[in-house]
Amino acid sequence: MKLANAFGLWTDLSLALQTALIPTIKDVWKKPSTISQLSRTFMAHVWIVFASQVDANARTVKQELFLPNATGVVLDIGAGLGHGIQYLDRTKVTKYVAVEPNTRMHPELRRIAATAEYRESDGTLVILGCGAEEITIILESLGSTMHSVDTITSVMSMCSIPSAEDALRGLVRHVLKPGGQLLFYEHVLSPRQDVAWWQRFWAPMWQIFYDGCRLDCPTDIWINEIKDVDDNGEEVDIWSERKLWGVPGETEETVFHHVLGKFVKREGRMLK
Ligand SMILES: C[S@@+](CC[C@H](N)C(=O)[O-])C[C@H]1O[C@@H](n2cnc3c(N)ncnc32)[C@H](O)[C@@H]1O
Repeated sequence: MKLANAFGLWTDLSLALQTALIPTIKDVWKKPSTISQLSRTFMAHVWIVFASQVDANARTVKQELFLPNATGVVLDIGAGLGHGIQYLDRTKVTKYVAVEPNTRMHPELRRIAATAEYRESDGTLVILGCGAEEITIILESLGSTMHSVDTITSVMSMCSIPSAEDALRGLVRHVLKPGGQLLFYEHVLSPRQDVAWWQRFWAPMWQIFYDGCRLDCPTDIWINEIKDVDDNGEEVDIWSERKLWGVPGETEETVFHHVLGKFVKREGRMLK
């Protein structure tokens, strides 16, 4: 891997520092308890400035993935400021459930949702301040009904979930309906050994500034390997359809190796 590509991320880090360091220090000064949420506070200041540009960079592939496929009740992992809402067809998506632990993002998320006619007042919008790993809270918020979500979406958020492999398995097994879809656009561990080395090199520092975001998660592999369990206790495939593809034109030499996925949960028995 060329050193220019390996160190390209340094530009992102220094821009983030220039943008968010002073506002974060000011927040801690005003409210010292913020220190326990330092990375989350920093991330909120970064995302408020850069989210729109990051979103625009991948608009076409996200439109192609989410607009025709997302239907019914959509649960968005790490909804951020609500940029994912523009990729939902309001005539097909009846309810938007945003899982977003960074409560600083909620006001803007709520505002953007309202522009697309999703509102808490009529039950078409639910904003959860928990993490995607908190499956019990998510289920309770959905009326303790298992398998009530038609579509789970995620845009660059699975990388921030602690114990993401377990969390994704839980979401797919218990929250997603049979026949439901998991749609995602994520940066994942590169299949190239040299790129993966640099991802592992940067990951510990990157996650300090970006609220736990890891550059070295093999999320696509974890999703592919999620299994159901049959009546005899044997592991069986949980997916009836799996499509995984890369971003056209993206260089292999990037520590942000993106993949898009459309996985459909098979119909049939529902694991409790
Ligand atoms: C890179 S941002 C992406 C936001 C949004 N999906 C978008 O495309 O603009 C990652 C998001 O994941 C959220 N996040 C962090 N930890 C999380 C967790 N445990 N569960 C769900 N989301 C989490 C962050 O707060 C942040 O909003």
